Amino acid sequence: MPSDSSASAQHSSTPSPSAVAQSFYTRWATLYDAIARRTPGVGSVRTDAADALGLDTGDTVVEMGCGTGANLPYLADRVGPEGTVVGVDFAPGVLDVARDRMAAYPNVHLVRADATRPPITDVDAVLATFVSGMFADPADVVSSWADLVGPGGRLCLVDLARTTDPTWRPLNPVFRALVRVTAPPGTRTMRGSPTAMLDQRLLAAHRSLESRCYAVDSSTQALGFARVRAGVVDE
Ligand SMILES: C[S@@+](CC[C@H](N)C(=O)[O-])C[C@H]1O[C@@H](n2cnc3c(N)ncnc32)[C@H](O)[C@@H]1O
Repeated sequence: MPSDSSASAQHSSTPSPSAVAQSFYTRWATLYDAIARRTPGVGSVRTDAADALGLDTGDTVVEMGCGTGANLPYLADRVGPEGTVVGVDFAPGVLDVARDRMAAYPNVHLVRADATRPPITDVDAVLATFVSGMFADPADVVSSWADLVGPGGRLCLVDLARTTDPTWRPLNPVFRALVRVTAPPGTRTMRGSPTAMLDQRLLAAHRSLESRCYAVDSSTQALGFARVRAGVVDE
């Protein structure tokens, strides 16, 4: 009969969702990079997100969960050489790709850290694209980013969800299948639909942004699958 200690040893050998996601994004960094930059329509989503932040020359902007750095050139162009861009991600493999991409930009820094507790201060704006659905408590995380940028700072979230555009709604089953297939392995075994969990987390993240910001601007892109929401943090 197994003792309590062997049961707990077995339990503790199960990798955490964070460890699973880090190794998933490290292993698939090159493939993810191709998808992140070459999917039709994704370039205009990234342009809109960077524009929605209303960056000025000299600003400091942080991208949380920056992945392979597909957004970083858009941010660096907007803050100019006097500004600073910081990409935060916890997966070393994607950061390596981002580092290569941004090697010519001395004002772009890549940091391996947990985006839910970033070791950063003095920030004007935060961008997070396609990452809210990976946080257990996205409302809390987004609120902590509002605290980080402070009153007058800017936040922008971009996330994928089922489209509500009637023309493209027939593609929603394909979207659901993609969410299931591309979810890091640990999340695929969770009870319930991954798309429903994604919807819940996105809703919580975007509501949190709305509750902390004024001048909130929302739009949908990419056949209605991409939700872009940005605002200025309130007092
Ligand atoms: C779907 S990718 C999006 C990457 C990038 N933002 C883009 O638009 O292509 C999600 C990224 O978030 C990172 N990530 C997820 N949770 C994180 C956390 N708590 N801290 C840091 N990075 C995280 C993953 O490692 C992955 O690179």
